[in-house]
Formats: sequence, C-alpha cells, structure tokens
Amino acid sequence: MLLRLAYVSQFKPDMTAERITGMIEAASAANTRHGITGVIALEDLRVCQVIEGERADIVRLFANIRADQRHSSIIELDRREVAERRYPEWSMVRCRMVDMVLHAYAVL
Ligand SMILES: Cc1cc2nc3c(=O)[nH]c(=O)nc-3n(C[C@H](O)[C@H](O)[C@H](O)COP(=O)(O)O)c2cc1C
Repeated sequence: MLLRLAYVSQFKPDMTAERITGMIEAASAANTRHGITGVIALEDLRVCQVIEGERADIVRLFANIRADQRHSSIIELDRREVAERRYPEWSMVRCRMVDMVLHAYAVL
C-alpha cells in the first residue's frame, strides 16, 4: 500500500535560495533511490511538500524531515493510503503554491 503525506513548514532564515536549491537536488536524488515521488512548493521561506511512496519509506522520511533543523513550524496536513501515485514521474519537483492547491483538490 502506498502512503501520501502533505505538510507545511517554514525554512530557517539562514536558508538562502542556493542552499534550498541544493537541498531539493539532494532530496530528489535520494527519493529516486527510495522510490519516493512528490512535489514541493516554496513561497519566500514557507514550504508545502507532498511525499508519496511505500508506507515504511514515507514514515522514515517524514521522521527525518521532522527532525531536520533547516526548517521549523512543521504541521502535518494530510496522511492517507492511496492506490496510485499522483506524481509517478516526479522524484521531487518544485511547483508553484497555486498548483499545489489545484493538485490537492485534484483539479489538475
Ligand atoms: C523542507 C524539507 C524537505 C525535504 N524533503 C526531502 C525529500 O523529499 N527527500 C529526502 O530524502 N530528504 C528530504 N529532506 C532532507 C531530510 O530532512 C534529511 O536530511 C534526509 O532525508 C537525509 O537524512 P539522512 O542523512 O539522515 O538519511 C528535506 C528537508 C527539508 C528541510
């Protein structure tokens, strides 16, 4: 069974655009290795991310993400078992906040 999880958080002020880009590149490479897919939307320091994959992989990754000192104010929005991935081709793609909302309501 696949798990899809969505959360919001806030990068710490020392996270520059360069550091954020590097972090997403590393996350994308790691996600490819673990069969994790999803999207991340950023607006200033605010983050909204959706991750999906095998339950154990998502639980492990979210524990890592929760403990990550590069952001704070982490709020889990949704966690659900799904039959299919919504982002099967995307190891971790940056999208616009408005597209994240449209995806959430399955308009796209
Ligand atoms: C906002 C945010 C999103 C992240 N997203 C991912 C992700 O999608 N995949 C990933 O492997 N790491 C992601 N990370 C990094 C993890 O928190 C962690 O550093 C990574 O899993 C490596 O942990 P490890 O070295 O202990 O295995 C993210 C970190 C932050 C702050």
